[in-house]
Amino acid sequence: MATDGVTVFPPSFVWGTATASYQIEGAVDEDGRGLSIWDTFSRTPGKVLHGDTGDIACDHYHRYAEDVQLMHELGINSYRFSIAWPRVQPEGKGELNPDGLRFYSELLDHLEANQIVPFPTLYHWDLPQSLGDQGGWSSRDTAYRFADYVDKLVSALGPRISQWTTLNEPWCSAWLGYAVGQHAPGETNVSAALAANHHLLLAHGLAAQAIRARSDAEVGITLNLAHVTPASDDPLDRLAATLTEGNANRMFLDPLFLGDYPADMMDLYGDARAEIKEGDLATISTVIDFLGVNYYAPAIVGSRERIAELQALGYCVDARRTPNLLDMTASAVHVKRPGFTSTQMGWEVEPATLTELLCNLRDQYRPIPIYITENGMSNADYVRQDGSVLDPERTAYLEGHLRAVAGAIAAGVDVRGYYVWSLLDNFEWALGYSQRFGIIWVDYATGERTPKASYYWYRDFIAAQARQPRECSVPPDPSSIPV
Ligand code: FCB
Repeated sequence: MATDGVTVFPPSFVWGTATASYQIEGAVDEDGRGLSIWDTFSRTPGKVLHGDTGDIACDHYHRYAEDVQLMHELGINSYRFSIAWPRVQPEGKGELNPDGLRFYSELLDHLEANQIVPFPTLYHWDLPQSLGDQGGWSSRDTAYRFADYVDKLVSALGPRISQWTTLNEPWCSAWLGYAVGQHAPGETNVSAALAANHHLLLAHGLAAQAIRARSDAEVGITLNLAHVTPASDDPLDRLAATLTEGNANRMFLDPLFLGDYPADMMDLYGDARAEIKEGDLATISTVIDFLGVNYYAPAIVGSRERIAELQALGYCVDARRTPNLLDMTASAVHVKRPGFTSTQMGWEVEPATLTELLCNLRDQYRPIPIYITENGMSNADYVRQDGSVLDPERTAYLEGHLRAVAGAIAAGVDVRGYYVWSLLDNFEWALGYSQRFGIIWVDYATGERTPKASYYWYRDFIAAQARQPRECSVPPDPSSIPV
């Protein structure tokens, strides 16, 4: 897959960058936008670091033309962004807001003028607050509200979009939002999280059907899949890893691709399980056209009961990620290997795990076109006196993960595209503006954008792809891949 030191991708490979509405748009009170659960959450003292909010963020709502110009100069051919539900349907029901729609329609005009294909996500966590008030995703009705919003949106923008992603990372919406309480709406209730898990998947299935009924566009969903390794061979560590992987991956992949929830997880959750109505699993497993995979870091998991032994083995407990793991049911802790390279988020860097994850996914489910819909790192970047931002750590991270993607393609996995997270530094949820993930630096006081060294590296990488000889880069025929 490599010639002259350049990793070669299929000629049709899609090169992109990703963002999300609440993280970049700002303009939260403009043109009839309704309140979202993230407006409420971020304005609640103590929920977001430094009390940061998305009120202004990157001011992309006003600067989108400049941002599209930067994408053009970068040379990407696709842009993954999300549509803010409360901007286009402020109360989560009723007619669409023409002013909110106009923003996205103008964004599409600019993308089209620059030959950048839009790759929109219909939900990246900014639920209308009025639906939050009625239980949010823990309420079944929210799934039907979502399908209604999608139906109306697709009939408004439909002809201009050839691929829709229904949800971004429903695991985060359900578990960080309703069990761990780190994300909006900040609940800490496992039954509510399980209900949200189910209703998000139901929403996805209903939306997929609504899109199919209205257009010929492809439909997919984006999951944040985990690559989980047990910290040791001890049966307790192995069990903790299995349950962690079950919570992160199988609770989503099984219903989507196998039409059922995993039995071990259902046993684990017992009475806290969500009510599943007849027909729900058939709706959820509506055949989709592609899967989006967001991937950042591997997970090494041990048993909570073995913390002392794990520490003796040289591991340290990863305090930041541990609460994500639902120790109340899985009894698991995330651990870190000492001395391992990690990003500013504290996430370990081990690109080969992405190749393994993609191969396992193909082997355990079915071959499906995959897009890496997010991959990137936060870094302690700063603007130097000469105005440049040098981020060799990010370049190395991106290069390593692109090699990992190429490795998966070489192993027969049908990966069709890659989106760097993120185009811009932005509002990193509960961590506010403290984590810079962009390949473009944003001065939050002025809104000024400065491409970082990694932006220029990615530009040159994409350009080099166009110059490569193509004999070794035929994409695999999905039907020839052993299941
Ligand atoms: C993902 C989210 C994205 C961003 C990255 C760092 O979980 O989808 O919005 O916050 O993490």
